Amino acid sequence: MKKLRQIAALVRNFGTLRHALSTLAGLYSGDGAFDALGGLTGAETEALCRWAAESGLDVAEIGTLFGMTARELAAALPEGRKVTAIDNFSWNPFGLPPRAHEEFARRILKREIASGRVELRKASALEFLESAGPGVFVFLDGDHRREAVRAEIEAARASGTKFIAGHDWGNPLFGVTEAVRETLGEPDETAGMCWLKRL
Ligand SMILES: C[S@@+](CC[C@H](N)C(=O)[O-])C[C@H]1O[C@@H](n2cnc3c(N)ncnc32)[C@H](O)[C@@H]1O
Repeated sequence: MKKLRQIAALVRNFGTLRHALSTLAGLYSGDGAFDALGGLTGAETEALCRWAAESGLDVAEIGTLFGMTARELAAALPEGRKVTAIDNFSWNPFGLPPRAHEEFARRILKREIASGRVELRKASALEFLESAGPGVFVFLDGDHRREAVRAEIEAARASGTKFIAGHDWGNPLFGVTEAVRETLGEPDETAGMCWLKRL
């Protein structure tokens, strides 16, 4: 009976499984762990942390996944500045259900959350950005579809921020490059697939 229930769960979650398998295939074919897992490379993280630290602002990371970049950002900011890590837990490379995904991210960020350096918020990008103020360096790495990124950039711009950055510049799989060019023009700086525009 238990086996039958497990098989039914596998069938019900076929899309998620397919995604998890393709992540594993990426890892085994040597695409690089961070590529396959949807994170940033070391050089991208370094550039992003530098841009964020130089901005003098708190940081909002839209799409935090498991919090790996949020931790690095928090460590790069001087005392008194914090990272708000926003995620709607709609996607992860392992196909974890949203509750497990959130629990995992909270566990990884446990120390930073306890010290107040990171606040992890379950929200959609637009929910957050539409109520954000100007004092935030915005890093976009959530939904990568052109229309979604355009809407996020517009909402970030309306918040009054002077810094909008993101990931997946030049990635042919996503609509980020078009969205950035259509709304902001060319970025002021890029590092790998990270981009930055100063407003
Ligand atoms: C590529 S991963 C982010 C990787 C992360 N920035 C890092 O460097 O480790 C994308 C994340 O964005 C989240 N996401 C997708 N669409 C979103 C949206 N509209 N609002 C908030 N989060 C979103 C997904 O749940 C996923 O965790």
